[in-house]
Amino acid sequence: MALQLGDIVPDFTQDSSAGPISFHQWVGDSWVVLFSHPADYTPVCTTELGTVASLKSEFERRNVKVIALSVDSAESHRGWINDINETQNTTVNYPIIADGDRKVSDLYGMIHPNSLNNLTVRSVFIIDPNKKLRLTITYPASTGRNFNEILRVIDSLQLTDNYQVATPANWTDGGDCVVVPSIPTEEARSKFPKGVEEIKPYLRMTPQPNK
Ligand code: BEZ
Repeated sequence: MALQLGDIVPDFTQDSSAGPISFHQWVGDSWVVLFSHPADYTPVCTTELGTVASLKSEFERRNVKVIALSVDSAESHRGWINDINETQNTTVNYPIIADGDRKVSDLYGMIHPNSLNNLTVRSVFIIDPNKKLRLTITYPASTGRNFNEILRVIDSLQLTDNYQVATPANWTDGGDCVVVPSIPTEEARSKFPKGVEEIKPYLRMTPQPNK
């Protein structure tokens, strides 16, 4: 069965551009963004991996490690990284898993044969420090991902974990948050001293607690 939100993600050991990686050990106490791409030396992927490298400080301040994957070899990854660094004016500072035997791709359901023959599609997995799967998104090969959206989701997940608030449609950092339904309004008023607006009994808003 496909991986579902809340599952402990499968562990694996696989080669990468930075040498062999035992995944759960590598995750440690961090959040992780694991993302697959169809192939090395392709244009959209080149822009994506450069963009992720340029967001290094954004990932770091959220305690997030990033790791990419395709079914090409570690040697191919290392050669392509030179091109990414040159063309995207960055330094790729995270490993790319070399999944030549499709071990990880199969475990995580990254190959969609009716979409792309035997290559990984653009999957994204956000994994928390407990190794639980918190988000999956799948994009077609022809659409480069919006990594600002990935950062936005991480912010939302971390707010929920730390403050028991949810985030409304199109929320961005600093915007008002939603009080989660499990907290009664009176309790919310003491829990969120910045104020709680009760628009409906089920729709309560509060300023972002950590701002
Ligand atoms: C690309 O990364 O440019 C790409 C890869 C596979 C199919 C289409 C585009």
